[in-house]
Amino acid sequence: MQKIKFYKGENIPLELHKVRVVQKLHLVPIERRLEALQEGGYNTFRLSTKDVFLDMLTDSGTNAMSDNQMAAMMQADDAYAGSQSFYRLLKAVQDVLDKKYYLPVHQGRAAENIISYAYVKKGSIIPMNYHFTTAMAHITQYGGKIAELLYDEAYVIDSSHPFKGNMNLEKLEEIIQLHGAENIPFIRMEASTNLIGGQPFSVQNLRDVRAIADKYKIRLVLDASLIGENAYLVKQREEEFKDASLGEIMKVMTGLADLVYFSARKLSSSRGGGICTDSNEIYHELEALVPLFEGFLTYGGMSVREMEAMAVGLYETLDETIICQSPNFIKYLVDKLDAKGIPVIKPAGVLGVHLDAMQICAHIPQKEYPAGALAAALFLISGIRGMERGSISNQRDEYGNETYADMELLRLAVPRRVFTLSQIKYVEDRVNWLYDNRELIGGLRFVYEPPVLRFFMGGLEPVSDWPQKLIAKFKEDFGDSL
Ligand code: F0G
Repeated sequence: MQKIKFYKGENIPLELHKVRVVQKLHLVPIERRLEALQEGGYNTFRLSTKDVFLDMLTDSGTNAMSDNQMAAMMQADDAYAGSQSFYRLLKAVQDVLDKKYYLPVHQGRAAENIISYAYVKKGSIIPMNYHFTTAMAHITQYGGKIAELLYDEAYVIDSSHPFKGNMNLEKLEEIIQLHGAENIPFIRMEASTNLIGGQPFSVQNLRDVRAIADKYKIRLVLDASLIGENAYLVKQREEEFKDASLGEIMKVMTGLADLVYFSARKLSSSRGGGICTDSNEIYHELEALVPLFEGFLTYGGMSVREMEAMAVGLYETLDETIICQSPNFIKYLVDKLDAKGIPVIKPAGVLGVHLDAMQICAHIPQKEYPAGALAAALFLISGIRGMERGSISNQRDEYGNETYADMELLRLAVPRRVFTLSQIKYVEDRVNWLYDNRELIGGLRFVYEPPVLRFFMGGLEPVSDWPQKLIAKFKEDFGDSL
């Protein structure tokens, strides 16, 4: 929490860093933004950053790097095998995540691929608090299925539940008894459950999951990509940990898992990823897959410079003044939007602000992708690029049928230490305007649908001329303002 009080009692998230390297941004005219959408198939993944003003697509690989990370990159030791950069990184992983063995991989999904390749087979069931797109894609690729086991509260938009990412323990036992422990190679817990609005689990819940995993002798896998932010919210919300440091909380969490993997693009504000474990057996089960899929065991597909940045970034994850910045900005924006009655996931979580397109675009049926439409509309009227986290991000079932998402969200990511408060106020302003004009937003339909992870490169088009109508209203209200 913010420890600096303002004289007049104002409650704003004060930045505890200064900006020393900057990148110029452009806000291109609305006519160009429409062309950019048309060129990019109304899919914000396919926009070029030259057309984007505030890039809130993701925090993956876009968190600001620190001076110390940049400095560390200069001492990188180029070597195919045995690089000193790797040993510095290994030590950082051991110190921060408290695991003995570390297998380097080029990013988070590469870890998912290796773990799924090693343990998932046809008929496997993987219970998890909630899926992440790439985790699910790898599990299904190898013939497995997922079972999402959250409490009902997790799906409530307007909630004050502190731990909506908790795994439903009763359902976990049921699933194990139904399918048999022998068909469950691992249970997956995701820190700060991405697709339901960056919602954390409690340490107590993780302990309870561990107890069930022990009872049935099933491995527990922790996706630690956002463990720093999850630990920050544990400190805020779980009485037992109010005086603990982030490092202590993270160690309790990783200590409960047999296998920890992460995307360093998020965790350590760098690139890369990894798998770590204390188990000699697990290490040897996975070891040979790293040179097969990634690269030699002392770089795993990463550049040595990235490894140096990752090592320093891991230590910086222990610094509350760094980790609190994004959640505090998110809370600021969530509070402002909520005060205006705009449906947004509450309580404020991590990673980003999540607008509820199901309510905002209640007039758009799910088959016309309300969250995708809201993402396109917001980009059109503001140059702000968010990410659809709804049915477009879902994959079709094995028979080719649409599976509609539980939630239709537009995620506006707030990467660490990237945006200023006035930029966040601009987001607030334009979301406000769009909400007041929401009836003008229309649906989308696919014109090109890739078979796997369709949301990345899929192409869509509007079902009517709603973008033109939205532009006309924008001009009426804003005149010649960009
Ligand atoms: N696990 C979680 C919880 C993630 O959020 C991500 C990526 C991954 C695994 C995969 O890691 O991208 O390094 O391969 N999330 C990004 C996002 C893409 O925008 O939320 P990766």
